[in-house]
Amino acid sequence: MSSPNFSKDNMNSDLNESCTIIGISGCTNSGKTSLTQKLITKFSGSKHVCQDTYFLEPGDERLEYVKEVNHNNWEKLSALDMAKMVKEIKEWIKESESNDNTSTILFVEGFTIFNYSPLCELFDKKYFLTMDYDACEQRRRGRNYIPPDPEGYFKKVVWPMYEKHKQDIEHHKDIVYHNGSEDQEKTMHSIITDILTLPQIRNLYIS
Ligand SMILES: Nc1ncnc2c1ncn2[C@@H]1O[C@H](COP(=O)(O)OP(=O)(O)O)[C@@H](O)[C@H]1O
Ligand SMILES: [Mg+2]
Repeated sequence: MSSPNFSKDNMNSDLNESCTIIGISGCTNSGKTSLTQKLITKFSGSKHVCQDTYFLEPGDERLEYVKEVNHNNWEKLSALDMAKMVKEIKEWIKESESNDNTSTILFVEGFTIFNYSPLCELFDKKYFLTMDYDACEQRRRGRNYIPPDPEGYFKKVVWPMYEKHKQDIEHHKDIVYHNGSEDQEKTMHSIITDILTLPQIRNLYIS
């Protein structure tokens, strides 16, 4: 049985291609949010959607408890309300395409945005920031999470889940990988050059 086609083209077959969806994924602390914040300043009228805003509330019974570290597993897709995220993005696409004929870009950013097929199918371009274990752990230690990471959470949960999520999308041949430890300006310019191969958004670029 074939699965339903949720692709943007199918969803809005009666509407034009004025809305471009760019995905920025990668491991924790790889620079997804800061890079996206910079990218939206480079394209007029662009918007930023962050996957982190769709986390379930602490105490939600859908969260999986990891006894070893006495903490919930916040790295799983099921720790997020992904259905709500997709619903809101589709509403935004419909609204922006029906409003007028002006092109717009939505930058969607998050650690598992390519692992949820109803969302993944919406992207016109996909970028993924990688990191090695030590560099990532060091950056993560410098951050304050709510709820805070307990001892051992990075090693036992965060990193293995990152490796699993990365492996699960390896077959997507259209993902462009960058190293999150490299100079972010350089990475940004490389991504912009690639985004600009999409003719519909060239007039939105602010150099
Ligand atoms: N290429 C980079 N070089 C140096 N520091 C970086 C780079 N990318 C991100 N950072 C820093 O790493 C931290 C996490 O960045 P952030 O954008 O919040 O990552 P993410 O959203 O992927 O968790 C921030 O302090 C940010 O300034
Ligand atoms: Mg972030």
